[in-house]
Amino acid sequence: MKIIVLLINLSLFNAVTTLLAADVDFPTQVFPIFEKSCLTCHGPEKKKGGLRLDSQTATLKGGDDGIVLVPGDAAKSDLYRRITLPSGNDDVMPNKGAVLTKAQTDLIRDWINQGAHWPQSAVASVPQEKASAPIRPACCRFQTDGGGNQSDRQSSGDGD
Ligand code: HEC
Repeated sequence: MKIIVLLINLSLFNAVTTLLAADVDFPTQVFPIFEKSCLTCHGPEKKKGGLRLDSQTATLKGGDDGIVLVPGDAAKSDLYRRITLPSGNDDVMPNKGAVLTKAQTDLIRDWINQGAHWPQSAVASVPQEKASAPIRPACCRFQTDGGGNQSDRQSSGDGD
């Protein structure tokens, strides 16, 4: 009984968090996870399972077992299933090292559910620095003072 209530709570919670999820920004929020945890095995050098995750085209194409990403439907996306498997499971990804955190898999879930938008700018070779605000020079701290400041002397005067 408790378990059922818990499960209902969990799925409600998931539904609500998905609905309320803020828009995920792929280049800054999701792609760095791919770069750090996936591309060593699913990138230009290695494509384990026939899968590359370094471009939208490649990711949508899928791997040896077919489609891994269904835009708009994380639940049907093998990519999401695999990253949410418990550590030690045969299918879990990444299959070496630490599994992704819940925060990371939630981001990826939301990104998929929001349509898996993948701006062209996010490809592996491009450094992912966002156009940053121009650095403002520390202006005007030292004002040039052309004249002497003899008038200061008055204050240190020693009477008559
Ligand atoms: C250390 C290497 C390694 C890392 C890192 C890794 N994978 Fe994999 N991945 C594999 C191997 C090997 C396979 C093929 C065997 C299998 O299907 O389990 C595979 C297969 C897959 C498949 C199934 C492809 C198909 O069609 O069969 C998906 C989806 C996948 N990985 C997603 C990911 C994601 C997402 C990440 C990052 C969070 C990741 N992998 C990180 C090694 C890795």
